[in-house]
This record gives sequence, C-alpha cells and structure tokens, in this order.
Amino acid sequence: MAIERLRDGEPAGAGVDPSDFTLSSDPFALFDVWMAEAERAEPEDANAMALATADADGLPDVRVVLLKGFDRRGFVFYTNTQSTKGEELAANPQAALVLHWKSLGRQIRARGPVERVTDAEADAYFASRHRESRIGAIASQQSRPVADRTALMDAVAAVTERVGDGAVPRPPHWTGFRILPSSIEFWRNGEFRLHDRVRFVRDGAGWRGTRLYP
Ligand SMILES: Cc1cc2nc3c(=O)[nH]c(=O)nc-3n(C[C@H](O)[C@H](O)[C@H](O)COP(=O)(O)O)c2cc1C
Repeated sequence: MAIERLRDGEPAGAGVDPSDFTLSSDPFALFDVWMAEAERAEPEDANAMALATADADGLPDVRVVLLKGFDRRGFVFYTNTQSTKGEELAANPQAALVLHWKSLGRQIRARGPVERVTDAEADAYFASRHRESRIGAIASQQSRPVADRTALMDAVAAVTERVGDGAVPRPPHWTGFRILPSSIEFWRNGEFRLHDRVRFVRDGAGWRGTRLYP
C-alpha cells in the first residue's frame, strides 16, 4: 500500500539516519524514514493508526483508520463526514493519532487541529480507489444502524445498478481530513523499559525537540 507523500522534490527523509534520534532532527523527515521502514517491515497495514477524537461533551473516542498521505502540513485520512468521527470532528475539530509498529518497537504520536482536505485532493484520492470501494463508500451510511448484512448488500446493489457503466463520483459526505500537528512524539523501545522518547513541539516556523523520561 503506497502512502501519498504529498510533496514536491526530494523525499523529506532523504539523508536522514533512521537511528538518529537527536533533537536537531526534523520531525517530518524522521517520520518519513520511520514510515518507510514500517512499510518494509509490516506485512499488513503499516499505515493503520488509532485516531482519537472527542465528542461535544469532551468524551474521548478512538478507532483505527489508514494514514493515506502526509507532508509538512500534516497527516491525512479519509472517511465519511456523517460517521460518528465525522460528527465529532464537526463539533470539535481536533484529533490525536498513534501509529505502533510492534516488530520495530516504535510508536509515533501526533495531535493538533484538524481541517478538511480540498475537494480536488479528495476527488483525486477517491478516483484512485477500486470501483467496488467507491460504490461501497456511496452505499454505506457509516456508523448508522443497519438491519443486517443483506440490507448493506442491497444498498451496494442499488448503487451498482444506478451507476451502471458510468462514472462513480465522490459523494459529498466522503472526504479527507488533515491533522495539523502541534506536537509529534517519537518513541523507540529500549532494553529494560528504558525507552527513548522525543517530543517535537511547533516553535515559530520550526520545531523544538525535547527528550522525555520514558
Ligand atoms: C485496519 C483498519 C483500517 C481502517 N481504515 C479506515 C479508514 O481509512 N477510514 C474509515 O473511515 N474507517 C476505517 N476503518 C474503520 C474504522 O475503524 C471505524 O470502524 C469506522 O470508521 C467507523 O468509526 P466511527 O463510528 O468512529 O466514525 C478501518 C478499520 C481498520 C481495522
């Protein structure tokens, strides 16, 4: 599964030593290197991340989504805006994410405000999905009650018949969100639980890194 690295020119992580855990590191460059290593090391869904939101009362919620792109602005995932998470993000447009790669002994956390991607970005990503996945995104009223599996498959069949051989455009309630990190933390497993942690916090146009006790 290729993750869209939404940037021009050289990969952000070019020239970065993945074992370099120094505070001078650029967090997006380090992210790029760790993500690339995870894609090589993890056979399934290296880009699966827990996404935490909170509802209007501040009650936290969490579920797994796929990281579909990142650049120096932030981390992008796609979903249904009418889902529970979509409604939570409408009420409280902030989120946190965590990626954990067990085999590498690494974790990355990030948190910050959330914005929608542009319609052009969402259209481009939607168009890249399998036709069946696009039809499914139209048919599924994500997070709403459904009587049984037959009802879901009937909804899929109805959309399939409606679109025929024609285009399957992105429905308006399906789009991407970008988490604009105010902080990014890297965690690396250490012997006897003496792990390495570095948290980067935005500092003007750059980032300030601080090493933390594990
Ligand atoms: C590995 C994995 C990847 C997933 N990827 C996505 C995704 O990219 N977007 C999405 O909306 N749901 C994804 N889901 C489903 C969500 O975990 C969740 O069930 C769904 O989005 C509804 O969540 P909500 O009711 O909190 O809105 C994924 C689940 C798993 C286990």
